[in-house]
Amino acid sequence: MSYTLKSNTYQIEISDLEDSSFQDFMLVNYANSRKIIIVDENTNEYCLEYLITTYDFLKDAEIILIPEGEDSKVIDLCAQIWDTWTDYQIERNDVVINLGGGIVSDVGGFAASVYKRGLDFINIPTTLLAMVDASVGGKTGVDLGKYKNQLGLFVDPKAVYVDIAFLQTLPIGEIYNGFAEMLKHGLIVNAKHWEDLSILVEVEQEITIEHIYTSLSIKNGIVLEDPFEGGLRKKLNFGHTIGHALEGHFSIKDPISHGYAVALGILAESFISFKKNFITLSELNEIERVMLSNYESIDLSDENLNDIFQLMKNDKKNEKQKILCVLLIGIGQSIINQEISEQEVLESLEYLNRLHQEEKKLEIK
Ligand SMILES: NC(=O)c1ccc[n+]([C@@H]2O[C@H](COP(=O)([O-])OP(=O)(O)OC[C@H]3O[C@@H](n4cnc5c(N)ncnc54)[C@H](O)[C@@H]3O)[C@@H](O)[C@H]2O)c1
Repeated sequence: MSYTLKSNTYQIEISDLEDSSFQDFMLVNYANSRKIIIVDENTNEYCLEYLITTYDFLKDAEIILIPEGEDSKVIDLCAQIWDTWTDYQIERNDVVINLGGGIVSDVGGFAASVYKRGLDFINIPTTLLAMVDASVGGKTGVDLGKYKNQLGLFVDPKAVYVDIAFLQTLPIGEIYNGFAEMLKHGLIVNAKHWEDLSILVEVEQEITIEHIYTSLSIKNGIVLEDPFEGGLRKKLNFGHTIGHALEGHFSIKDPISHGYAVALGILAESFISFKKNFITLSELNEIERVMLSNYESIDLSDENLNDIFQLMKNDKKNEKQKILCVLLIGIGQSIINQEISEQEVLESLEYLNRLHQEEKKLEIK
């Protein structure tokens, strides 16, 4: 099975890598370029060998190995990469292949886009989250302190190759990280996708290439209409306003993953949608049921909820000091630029905590 999507300036192929146009694309466009492959510790171990032993043109590639995890998404690490490229005498027509999850594609895409005013880069995502989200859409960037993606650029990759075989070695927790973004895709614009994904747990079935293709089509379709996030693209931020604040809040003492933070953000922002009478109680209950059957609730009882709210004040999506959020107006429908108040945010965090207390009570019974 193989699928192709056209984005603004590049093509996304979803198939076995060996059945894709990867080899031809590289030979046509980069025959005389030096190849740089960026990996992290895990993709170095699980994914790199396949790539360099399958493709002769990659056997002499320069390998840039970065530590795994969000701590690598910093400007200091990019500076080390740029120093290395300078030592290697990397030139403007050389090409970078980002082989990894969202960390590798964010760091690699950003480092490539800035170096000598821009090297070409290609994404080969190896996590579910990167396959359905981070590898497409042209956003690259790094964090600044506890503020996520504070420094970055919109730059398209030259091509994206999605091969779900890479998921075989991915830990299950990482599958759930990507799954949160897929559920979000359904909730914001496609009720059928939400429905298809929401029954997977009940019927004990796995995510398929078709599910990945549908999610990618949703993301790509939105990005095509609004590449620089002037309007429609903001829909993709559903779950991320509160999600990012939770991720930032916990980042220092007890980090939670991006996908889990988004899942919690989806719950909190659905609650605000309900409080504003945009969705019904039965819709909220359905979202609650699906999210909690896939993700644990979180204990916020010892947290300073106001600290989480303060983080939201620095969100890039804010305008004129107002916290703007995407809210649901039904399952499969959403609305952008909704102002949310401090009280609504705090109530939604209390709601998350209440869900946790209720789950704990059920466990004790
Ligand atoms: N640019 C964008 O549009 C965009 C969109 C969404 C998320 N992001 C960013 O993506 C990042 C998260 O990405 P992620 O969830 O892919 O995390 P990640 O890149 O850290 O990967 C998760 C873990 O899986 C490991 N891994 C990757 N591929 C593997 C494989 N095939 N087998 C075994 N282990 C493997 C990694 O080493 C890491 O430990 C966040 O920083 C987020 O902000 C960016």
